Amino acid sequence: MNTITVVGSINQDTTLYVQAMPKPGETIRINKMVVSGGGKGANQAIAAQRLGAKTAFIGAVGADHAGEGMLALLRKESIDVAGVAVLAQETTGQAFISVDAHGENSIMINAGANTKFDAAHVRKYRHAIKNSDFVIVEFESPVADSVAAFEIAHKAGVKTILNPAPALKEIPTELLALTDLIVPNETETEILTGIKVTDEKSMTQAAAKLISFGVGTVVITLGSRGVYYHVGNQSGLIPALKVKAVDTTAAGDTFIGAVASVLRPNFANITEALTYGNRASALTVQKLGAQNAIPFKRDLD
Ligand code: RIB
Ligand code: NA
Repeated sequence: MNTITVVGSINQDTTLYVQAMPKPGETIRINKMVVSGGGKGANQAIAAQRLGAKTAFIGAVGADHAGEGMLALLRKESIDVAGVAVLAQETTGQAFISVDAHGENSIMINAGANTKFDAAHVRKYRHAIKNSDFVIVEFESPVADSVAAFEIAHKAGVKTILNPAPALKEIPTELLALTDLIVPNETETEILTGIKVTDEKSMTQAAAKLISFGVGTVVITLGSRGVYYHVGNQSGLIPALKVKAVDTTAAGDTFIGAVASVLRPNFANITEALTYGNRASALTVQKLGAQNAIPFKRDLD
């Protein structure tokens, strides 16, 4: 069983299901509205935990009703939330998501408390990171916190996973140099490398560029096409399962949590782990919402 620490974001998601996104100036009807747990970090932690890992969380919520609710959801999963600060002057992160009839989403975020915990807070909970097999970070929380987490991990021989989402133009070179596994999607890959990924050739070029930045292993998520991986001198495509997507929210987060829950820290079983991640995210896209849609181990077995 892997032990995982996620240093990341917690949001309350309000998802609006519509036929099509409104155009500027247009007023439309919402077909259905769902309020649920979200945030890339929290989704990743829940996926990891539901799929068999022992997970701890480092992050922050505001001292408000949403924060209480989001913390309760993490506790219900038996995730260790000792490292989640409750910040008196801040609001809990909020995401406003619209999903159209094709299952495509667009998201607006009020980051709130997610950007208000600092590297000192991360260092305070360093024991969780040190006792892990993997530490996972993304970019809904301050990048300096991610660097602090990876420094602690690196010194302790703990493997690091970077999900560079939402896309960020200026990623500190030290963060990439401390990254064992980077998991960007197509857009994030292009922003990071300047290479548009279309075919296997461009994916190989983009992976080589990421590796030249000091990253160990590259996994590019390609949505309905699956994932491309580059580990050591091995590379290839693992196709996604063909399913009907109703809401792709948290598909990427599920993939990362699932992979981290089964990957051996020496990456020996990476292709099996990626296949497992594909299967998990294929279930997530078939259900509405973020955390509501993340599968349990029994759903995959
Ligand atoms: O990756 C999906 C998540 O992104 C949502 O749960 C939302 O909170 C946004 O952070
Ligand atoms: Na979903």
